[in-house]
Amino acid sequence: MLRADAISYGSVALKPSRFPGLALDAAEVHLWQASLDGRPADIFESFLSADELDRANRFHFTEDRTHFVVARGLLRNLLAAYLGIGCAELRFSYGAKGKPFLLLDGRPQINFNLSHAHGRAAFAFSRGRELGVDLEYVKEDFEAELIANRFFSRSEVLALRTVPADLRNQAFFNCWTRKEAYIKARGEGLSMPLVEFDVSLRPGEPAALLNNYREKREVERWSMKAIPAPEDYVGALVVEGHDWQLKSFSLEKSNAPKLSANVAALERHQHSRLSLG
Ligand SMILES: CC(C)(COP(=O)(O)OP(=O)(O)OC[C@H]1O[C@@H](n2cnc3c(N)ncnc32)[C@H](O)[C@@H]1OP(=O)(O)O)[C@@H](O)C(=O)NCCC(=O)NCCS
Repeated sequence: MLRADAISYGSVALKPSRFPGLALDAAEVHLWQASLDGRPADIFESFLSADELDRANRFHFTEDRTHFVVARGLLRNLLAAYLGIGCAELRFSYGAKGKPFLLLDGRPQINFNLSHAHGRAAFAFSRGRELGVDLEYVKEDFEAELIANRFFSRSEVLALRTVPADLRNQAFFNCWTRKEAYIKARGEGLSMPLVEFDVSLRPGEPAALLNNYREKREVERWSMKAIPAPEDYVGALVVEGHDWQLKSFSLEKSNAPKLSANVAALERHQHSRLSLG
């Protein structure tokens, strides 16, 4: 049995006996965040399938390769924990625009999505609700208005202009992450025209899908939240339906050595489960 002492649930220490696996209620959405730096890529590599390793080896920069490997390794560990199976039993397939999903052989459905940015990753999980998550690193020095004119809808561009200059960067990334999380929830990637829907963006206002000009009922179908993120990062989550609660977890970087020991233990026990320790 793998004991993931490294995983903390907020600041609460959890006893392994209470968590034989990770429980995910249908009325919950779980969000995990992790730093991807300082993790042992070689150990995470051992969880990846041949096609994932192939992809990893196509990255030009070592850092990008490591981030991909660690994010996929963590994703596999978390999914295995929710399903109570070994990482090697997980089979991914991909939607027409690349959204990964699990081939589950009759097991209860689990939906997930992930995002990585500047050495961090966010992973979202639900039972039976489509979802999309996006995390971005807030850059300071870039042509926000130029990019907004290119990617945002007319009303978003106008809304952005009304935001005081010192908050405009924050507003820009609110908009960007919310749009991105929405197209990821739908699985469409950039094949969906970004000007066909509006999201809220003003700092202090709740995250919301305000309009979808082509499919009006979409506004009712999805809920949108800003996710808690460290300073210099902004994130958004879009989930099907409204009757769910968010639970946030973190995979603390400071515990990386313990996690790697645990991950190595998992390798030796093909059917072991990840439990919260
Ligand atoms: C591919 C895309 C879905 C996300 O790209 P991104 O923001 O660069 O990357 P993220 O880190 O947030 O997400 C990547 C992860 O999303 C998942 N993903 C891939 N295609 C997906 C799709 N069609 N739908 C949902 N999730 C998808 C994958 O798990 C991927 O990570 P992995 O391949 O390492 O496992 C797509 O939206 C894109 O190319 N965006 C480019 C950015 C842009 O121009 N955005 C405009 C916003 S206004």
